[in-house]
Order: sequence, then C-alpha cells, then structure tokens
Amino acid sequence: MSYQWRKEMQCPWDKSFKKYKDWYPEYYKTKYEICKKINPGTIVEIGVRAGYSADAFLQACPTATYIGYDADNGQHGGKKGLFAKPYMEWAKKHLALYDYNVTINFPVDSQKVDTLALADFYHIDGDHSKEGVMHDLDTCYNSAELGAHLLIDDIDYIDDVKDGVYEWLEIHKDSITYEYIETKRGDILMKKIK
Ligand SMILES: C[S@@+](CC[C@H](N)C(=O)[O-])C[C@H]1O[C@@H](n2cnc3c(N)ncnc32)[C@H](O)[C@@H]1O
Repeated sequence: MSYQWRKEMQCPWDKSFKKYKDWYPEYYKTKYEICKKINPGTIVEIGVRAGYSADAFLQACPTATYIGYDADNGQHGGKKGLFAKPYMEWAKKHLALYDYNVTINFPVDSQKVDTLALADFYHIDGDHSKEGVMHDLDTCYNSAELGAHLLIDDIDYIDDVKDGVYEWLEIHKDSITYEYIETKRGDILMKKIK
C-alpha cells in the first residue's frame, strides 16, 4: 500500500487547505515514507492540528498506537477565536473512521510539561520558536526509549527551528545520531543512542 491523500480528511474549517492543496499530498507522503521505514510501535506527536500527519503515520503503520498532544492555542498553524472549532476535534473524528489506536490530548501545552508518553517515534511539530523546539526535543528525548527516533521538520523553512535544532544537537552530540532528509521544508531524523 502506498500513501493516499484522503480527500475526506480535509478539515472543513481549515482555511489554509486551499493554499496548500497541491502541496499536501507530497508533503505528507514524505511523512508516510519516513514512518514506514522506522516502523514504530508507538507514535507520539506534539502538534496534531487537523490530523494530517497523524493520518500519514497511521497509513504507514496501521497497527501502531498514536498519542497526540496539542495546545489548541492558535499558535504555529493552530486556530483560536470566538467561533473557532478546535482542529483536533476533526482529527479525532476523521481518524475514528479507521481501525486505528488513537488518543488525542488537548489542550496540552508541551512547553509546560517535561515528559510525554513512552514511545519509539516522536514527531515534533508544535511550538516553532527556538526555545520551544529545544524544550520539545528535551521532553521527547527524556521520554523516549533507547533507539527511538525523533523527527522534526521546517528546518529549511523557519530559521528559529533550524537554530534550535542545531543548538540542541550540539549539546546532545554524544547521545544522538541524525540525518538530514531533503524534503519540501527540510526534515531531521534523530536516533537516541544513549
Ligand atoms: C504546524 S501545526 C501541526 C501540523 C500537523 N502536525 C500536521 O502536519 O498535520 C502546529 C500545531 O501545534 C500546536 N501547538 C502550538 N504550540 C503548541 C504547544 N506549545 N504545545 C502543543 N501544541 C502546540 C498548534 O495548535 C497547531 O495545531
């Protein structure tokens, strides 16, 4: 089976969808391929939004357990407003159509926690500030089992993310291996070795 951008997954109140509709299938195909290669048993994601990346991961590994966290704070691609419905409601509804094992926790501000669920794959896509990314990397690293993978994107798209990731990698160079993956926005895939 290969990745499918599922039309029914499109969140009706996702206004940015129009702008990105030609772009999403390839972007999420990359997420699918990375996850397929790792083949995790448990996936933890910071930054669920409407569940598009969650869907890609679960298409790749349908028997994996997925645990997502989102602050629903209107920041970094999120939505907040008097009449705004949380994107995560949509993610829950859509993912429930399939035989997946999914838990979505919101609102949870990842900056206010130091540990998340134990997993062998973490996708960090929440707070995109330099400090936010470094905090989330600490949290995921501390929560992860040995040999776990940590994936973070927007390396070539948001300078703060790039700065945070490379500063964090310098501090943790003895306990992490990593590879840069050339994707639409630049991904770094890390492995916890200590
Ligand atoms: C770029 S979107 C995630 C997109 C999603 N991973 C996907 O590809 O389908 C970022 C998400 O992170 C959430 N977020 C922002 N700051 C956060 C924080 N401090 N803790 C947890 N989630 C946060 C936002 O609410 C938003 O839904």
